[in-house]
Amino acid sequence: MKIAVRYYTRSGNTKKLAEAIADAVKVKAENVAVPLTEKADILFLGCSYYTFDVDEAVKKFISENSKNIGKIVCFGTSAMMKSMIKPVKKVADAAGVQVAKEDFHCKGSFGPMHKGKPDENDLKRSVVFAKMIAEL
Ligand SMILES: Cc1cc2nc3c(=O)[nH]c(=O)nc-3n(C[C@H](O)[C@H](O)[C@H](O)COP(=O)(O)O)c2cc1C
Repeated sequence: MKIAVRYYTRSGNTKKLAEAIADAVKVKAENVAVPLTEKADILFLGCSYYTFDVDEAVKKFISENSKNIGKIVCFGTSAMMKSMIKPVKKVADAAGVQVAKEDFHCKGSFGPMHKGKPDENDLKRSVVFAKMIAEL
């Protein structure tokens, strides 16, 4: 089973999860600027909310790489929201890409809020999640 990890980050919070997840499933975490050159059965896609939506770069990545995505598994961080599935699914549905019901989400630091998040415990939980999804 081919697995890939892509993420979008502005302040590094989601990148921390991406690297922990990629390490757990033994691939390299890449930014969404890096296209999928071969089909990924599972794409762990990390992103965050910026004014209640995902960044355009995430939308562009899904649309432009749809043929190489078997299924998206969302992960992400945010200050208040609980999951990235809804905004990702909106784009994925339009591109004909499947999104898993399972996801991993935790708080991410935002100004004075949630300092130090994601923390070590979040990273450990993201590893357990990734291994469960990848059946490792
Ligand atoms: C411009 C901006 C808008 C944001 N809007 C939201 C929002 O609508 N809902 C939310 O829960 N968090 C919001 N946040 C918080 C980010 O989602 C949070 O800090 C996240 O961990 C950032 O991840 P990153 O460091 O990977 O970019 C916003 C942050 C910024 C900078």
